Amino acid sequence: MQIIVCENYEELSRKGAELIAAEVKSNPAAVLGLATGNTPIGIYRYLVESYNKGELDFSNVKTYNLDEYLPIDPTDENSYCAFMHYHLWDKVNLKAENCHIPAGNVGMEKAAAECAAYDKQIEAAGGIDLQLLGIGRNGHIGFNEPGDHLLAGTHAVELTESTMAANGPLFENPADMPRHALTMGMGAIFAAKKVLLVANGKNKHDAVMGLLADEITTALPASLLKLHQNLILLCDKEAYNG
Ligand code: PGA
Repeated sequence: MQIIVCENYEELSRKGAELIAAEVKSNPAAVLGLATGNTPIGIYRYLVESYNKGELDFSNVKTYNLDEYLPIDPTDENSYCAFMHYHLWDKVNLKAENCHIPAGNVGMEKAAAECAAYDKQIEAAGGIDLQLLGIGRNGHIGFNEPGDHLLAGTHAVELTESTMAANGPLFENPADMPRHALTMGMGAIFAAKKVLLVANGKNKHDAVMGLLADEITTALPASLLKLHQNLILLCDKEAYNG
């Protein structure tokens, strides 16, 4: 594991964008696994800035997002689909057909088929070259929540109270937050050639320590990442030192 500790969120964001930009420059047809949440917003801002300076070309890049609420309409402003349009997809020259996210509006009964199709698409694209990941306060990655087991494939999941509490305030009425989500499983994440996990702020310290501790446990899904061959942990001082 490579560990990069940054002074603050800006530095973390710039560094994260540099790592992704390097991937895209070295492989213009890179397959990126992308994440939503507060942490990657700065990274996307720097990527857009580089693109606007003419330094980056996304025309052959494919992106696959980790997760989406269920049920939610892609046009809902709280959807992760809307987040991605706002922070990245609409601001660079990614082709619409190359931007992927699980469909949160399929209905529970079709969720399993949607998940299987999503995994097939990722496989057909040759797997993920670089997977960007946040980490939940409870150690979740994507919406692979702590529990007695984890799943390999993309799947529907009931969100934990901790995740509901962390994300609820982002909804105008927290009670409107969907209680379920579709998430890429551990399989596609682990098959990624490179994983870039980003964490900032004191409230991620315990999760980061759990990732760095020797124990590997499904009670802290991120702890499994220690087994990944090419993991970069990019965090700020507060997440690292507490
Ligand atoms: P955050 O979410 O970036 O909003 O803290 C990260 C996560 O829950 O994976």
